[in-house]
Amino acid sequence: MARYSRITGTGSYLPPDRITNDQLAARLAECGVETSDAWIFARTGIRARHFAAPDVASSDLASEAARRALDAAGLMPSSIDLIIVATSTPDMIFPSVACIVQDKLGIHGCAAFDLQAVCSGFVYALTVADAMIKSGSASRALVIGAEVFSRILDFSDRTTCVLFGDGAGAVVLEASDKPGLLASDLHADGKHVGILCVPGHVSGGGVLGRALLTMDGKAVFKLAVSVLESSARTVLQKAELSEADIDWLIPHQANIRIMESTARKLNVPLDKLVVTVDEHGNTSAASIPLALDVAVRGGKVRLGDTVLLEGVGGGFTWGAILLDF
Ligand code: UT7
Repeated sequence: MARYSRITGTGSYLPPDRITNDQLAARLAECGVETSDAWIFARTGIRARHFAAPDVASSDLASEAARRALDAAGLMPSSIDLIIVATSTPDMIFPSVACIVQDKLGIHGCAAFDLQAVCSGFVYALTVADAMIKSGSASRALVIGAEVFSRILDFSDRTTCVLFGDGAGAVVLEASDKPGLLASDLHADGKHVGILCVPGHVSGGGVLGRALLTMDGKAVFKLAVSVLESSARTVLQKAELSEADIDWLIPHQANIRIMESTARKLNVPLDKLVVTVDEHGNTSAASIPLALDVAVRGGKVRLGDTVLLEGVGGGFTWGAILLDF
């Protein structure tokens, strides 16, 4: 019998400190950086974001999201045989966040590793987990996106620091005889490394170079709009489905203008677009599983719906997954 993978539970976690645009603008004004709720909302659709407390790491957010996904799937942590964490803000250089999460959940022995594809990380991680399940090397995977981007923001750069937030989302992906992950499409083009990066690195016990996020927003915007449409069309073609079959579009939550433009190009009505960027900001690899969980718990995404997930970000990386949820 053919072997496929299906999502059987979702979960998410946001740190409790919710910062509105007005609150952020007031904090930035104290350092002479000028911005406003009006500018941020009009250009991005963001109203608020959550920031983790200084002693909270990606693994803390990831573990909580994973516990909620396990509860939703009705599974004990011990039944998990693969953990993949998509993150660009790991707790430490090594070991991986996945190993730390494994320990926090009390799981022992299963494969666990991080995957780094920035804001496309969750789409990459889910694709890898699906392949490992199909090949028989795993049967029950935790796939998590977790980030503390507040740690790598330059709060003197108003063009980037207003955009990002912290959070985590997780799914349980299980082997099944019925296809859940219908098609996937992944890409990268390293020639665009410089348009979105944190160029600093650790050497000789110190940090060399700038360890803060740098972005050419306009270049990212232009590329994002074009690749999201082409990747969506590729997965639809692979699954032999059409735009009209999409019940829910869940793109990476970076900017409402990019998301709505993608929906329009795909003829997906805006009421089928899942939007959490207003409340979460851009949480990088966490944004898609966070949005998926909000849509599931909010009664939007239901069993059997056709859901299109789309990631895009640093690398430059991008990709899409079509799900029979
Ligand atoms: O997760 C990876 C994916 N990342 C993305 O998808 C981000 C993609 N890019 C974007 O979302 C948008 O390019 C931004 C939201 C970053 C910027 O929006 P924009 O419409 O491209 O604005 P802009 O860069 O053209 O800036 C317009 C004006 C500038 O002023 P001048 O030169 O016209 O006088 C900026 O200095 O807005 C100014 N500005 C701000 N003003 C108030 C830039 N940031 C701010 C700010 N508050 N925070």
